[in-house]
Parts: sequence; C-alpha cells; structure tokens
Amino acid sequence: MSRKKIVAGNWKMHKNLYEGKQLIADILKSFDALPENVEVILAPPFTQLELAAHQLKENRGFKLAAQNCHQEKEGAFTGEVSAEMLKSVDVEYVILGHSERRQYFNENEAVLRQKVNAVLEQDLRVIFCVGELLDIRDAGQEKPFVERQLQAALFHLPEAEMEKIVIAYEPVWAIGTGRTATPEQAQDMHAHIRGVIAAKYGEALASRTPILYGGSCKPENAASLFALPDVDGGLIGGAALKAEDFVAIVNS
Ligand code: PGA
Repeated sequence: MSRKKIVAGNWKMHKNLYEGKQLIADILKSFDALPENVEVILAPPFTQLELAAHQLKENRGFKLAAQNCHQEKEGAFTGEVSAEMLKSVDVEYVILGHSERRQYFNENEAVLRQKVNAVLEQDLRVIFCVGELLDIRDAGQEKPFVERQLQAALFHLPEAEMEKIVIAYEPVWAIGTGRTATPEQAQDMHAHIRGVIAAKYGEALASRTPILYGGSCKPENAASLFALPDVDGGLIGGAALKAEDFVAIVNS
C-alpha cells in the first residue's frame, strides 16, 4: 500500500495575476524536485491558470487544479467555465463539493453529480470535498452524513472513473477557523471514508484512493496529521497563500 502523498493549495478568491505569479515562483524556488511519491497541486483562481500552467510545466510533481467548473459542456451560461476549457489550459484536477460552493452557491448533490461527470468526461480528475457542519458533529451524526455525501455525488461512478477521484475530508467547523480536527478525529473519519469506499468498490480500490485532510492545516499541525495511516495529505486554504507556510506543509 504505497499511496502518493498529495498537498493541494486552494487559493480561493485570493491573488491577482502578479501576486499569484510571484507566489508560484517562490514555491518553485524551494524545491529542486519533489520526491517521487509526492504530488503538489495548486488551485489558483481561473485568471491565473494559464500562466500557472506555463510556470509549472518543467516541474515534475506539480499539478494544476481549478476550484470549480460548470456542469454543461458549453452554452449560454454567462460567467461560467467548462471542464473542456480547463483542460485546454492544462488543468488536471477540479475541486468539487467544497463547503463554500455548497453554502454560498447552493450547489446540491444533484448538481455536484453532474459536475463530477462533466470533469471525468474530459478525462480530468476530481478532488471531491466532504465534511460536516458543527451541529452535525455535536449530534454525533458526522459519519452517516459524510457517507451520504459520498454516495450521492460519487457512487454512481463505475470503478474506472472512481479511480480518478481524490477525496478531501474538510470538517466545515475547521475551515478558516483556526480550529483543526484532532489527529484522532481525522484518522477516525478517514478510516470510515475508506471503509465506505471499500464496501462499494472493494478493498483494493479503497486502499488506492487518496484521502486528504482540510481545515486549518498549518505548518505546526501538518506533520502530525499527514503521519496518520489514512491521511494521505492535505487540502490547504489560508496557509497556501504564503510560500513559506505552504512549503513547510509540503515538507511535512
Ligand atoms: P483553510 O481552508 O486551510 O483556510 O481552513 C481549507 C479549505 O477550505 O480547503
């Protein structure tokens, strides 16, 4: 069982073109080459993607992600971007199901399922986010809740497509709050997620599926989280905006 370690930086709506270019240059400066089993994914805003693709081109192990895409191939959807457009600028991953998209843009399971299909149709990969709100955890319902999120958006997929999914467990109460899940809480949920995938797709596929932790992941806590048996890396928000912090997390 030698899953790759993945660190993904979700910039959200931060950095103009020039600031973003500098951030990527600063990150790249810190690595001669990434170790064979480590992948670093950067998810800048749409405006940055093409330039970022050029900057990352010669750097093995660095990949590009978009933070969203539309579910339709093309059409009269003012302001939206399709998976095919993302592919044309060398994007390899699309983040879907992030709690901010669910909360502020009303993305429900039905739309997310369509978006997952649209991304996979272009032969891109999905970083699919799941995670419970605080009241759900307080009620002890976090495991069935996350299980339902996985089932609703992903479990229609055939095995070959499920292989292209990276899961990110992001407890909503930990995102941007400075409050991280404890290693016990993270490991417990990650093992549960792997078990749910195994029950549907078998142990082999489940053991190959990367499951990232997200939510106030910082240089100070990354090593203890990434050392957990079922945590295969992190999806980083705030700490991905400073090269020094992001590099420290990758080095963890
Ligand atoms: P955070 O965000 O690291 O700022 O908590 C994580 C995320 O939303 O992916």
